[in-house]
Parts: sequence; C-alpha cells; structure tokens
Amino acid sequence: MIISAIAAVAENGVIGKEGGLPWSLPDDMKFFQRTTLNHPVISGRKSYESIPPQFRPLRDRLNIVVTRDKNYVAPGAVVCHSLADALEKAKAEETKEIFIIGGAQLYTEAIEAGIVNRLYITTVHAKPEGDAFFPTIGKEWKEVWSEKHKADDRHKHSFTLRVLQR
Ligand SMILES: NC(=O)c1ccc[n+]([C@@H]2O[C@H](COP(=O)([O-])OP(=O)(O)OC[C@H]3O[C@@H](n4cnc5c(N)ncnc54)[C@H](OP(=O)(O)O)[C@@H]3O)[C@@H](O)[C@H]2O)c1
Repeated sequence: MIISAIAAVAENGVIGKEGGLPWSLPDDMKFFQRTTLNHPVISGRKSYESIPPQFRPLRDRLNIVVTRDKNYVAPGAVVCHSLADALEKAKAEETKEIFIIGGAQLYTEAIEAGIVNRLYITTVHAKPEGDAFFPTIGKEWKEVWSEKHKADDRHKHSFTLRVLQR
C-alpha cells in the first residue's frame, strides 16, 4: 500500500495562512484533483473545513476527516478520531494508494511517524507570509519526477510539481 502526502509548499515552508491557502494556483489544484481522484483522502478537521462547502466532500473519493471531537459530523465524509483509525478505514477500501491531504498537523504527524512513503510536493516559487508550515523532511527523500510550470495570467507564482520517494 502506498501512503502518500500531497501538498503545495512555498520555498519558506509555508502551506497556509489564516485557515486558507496563501495563493491561487488553478493548475496545481487540477493536479491535486487528478492525482487523488478515486483514492481515499485523509485530512485534519481544519483543512476539511477550509474546503468550500459546495466542494466537500471532495467528489469521487472517500473523504476521511480526523478530529478529537467525538460529536463531530461531516455529512458525506467518514469521521475518525486518530490518524491510525483513519488509515485503517482507508485501507479497507479497494485501493493501492491513500492520500494525506493536510494540513500542517496531519502532515507532521504522518511524516514523523514514518508512515508516508511517497510525497507529491508542489514547490511554489514564492516566500509568502503564513502560519502553517510543512515539516522538514530528511535526506532519504529523493525526487523521482518533476514538471515546471511558469507564472502566467492565472498563476501569480511559478511552481514545480514534484514526486519524491524514500
Ligand atoms: N498548501 C497545501 O497543500 C495545504 C493542504 C492542506 C491544508 N493546508 C493549510 O493548512 C492549514 C491547516 O493546517 P492545521 O495544521 O492548522 O490543521 P489540520 O492539520 O488541517 O487540522 C488540525 C485538526 O485535526 C485534528 N487532529 C490533528 N491530529 C489529530 C489526531 N492525532 N487525532 C485526532 N484529531 C487530530 C484536530 O481537530 P479538532 O480540533 O477538531 O480536534 C486538529 O485541530 C490551513 O491554512 C490550510 O489551508 C495547506
């Protein structure tokens, strides 16, 4: 089973600001969509709530939300109370890959626990202000694929889509 984390990370490690994303990069969102489609996605409660209500649960994917709140409900999604429980639920699906889709708390927990074996990192070539950060990753992670995307009318920043394996 491949357990992946997928994130857009600025050059200064920032992934979020005030509960949302510090940028709008539609082609990166498309990459996220097509990469995670038909696979279980696991998110922290804060990131789940940052998805506009009309787009959640994300379509054609089992959405698993992790929270410590035993009364939490997320219509159309599965609610779990630990990362381990979320992974168990995801593994019960017929799938070869599970995606951890953020945010900072979930990425940090999963990577520090050593359960992630693939990273889809979009490096955003900017240094925005923010309050949520991707964890530092070790030298064991090697880039196996990358694709550059220039800044344009719809993308204020250039970015590089990357896949890393360890
Ligand atoms: N750039 C990107 O690719 C990307 C992707 C995703 C998110 N983000 C950004 O990241 C930011 C949110 O990140 P965040 O770190 O603040 O929040 P988060 O990781 O999305 O969610 C944190 C919440 O998840 C629950 N949680 C975390 N660990 C848990 C555990 N072990 N057991 C049970 N519940 C657990 C808790 O929910 P309760 O408080 O309900 O108990 C906690 O408050 C936002 O700015 C968002 O836009 C960026």
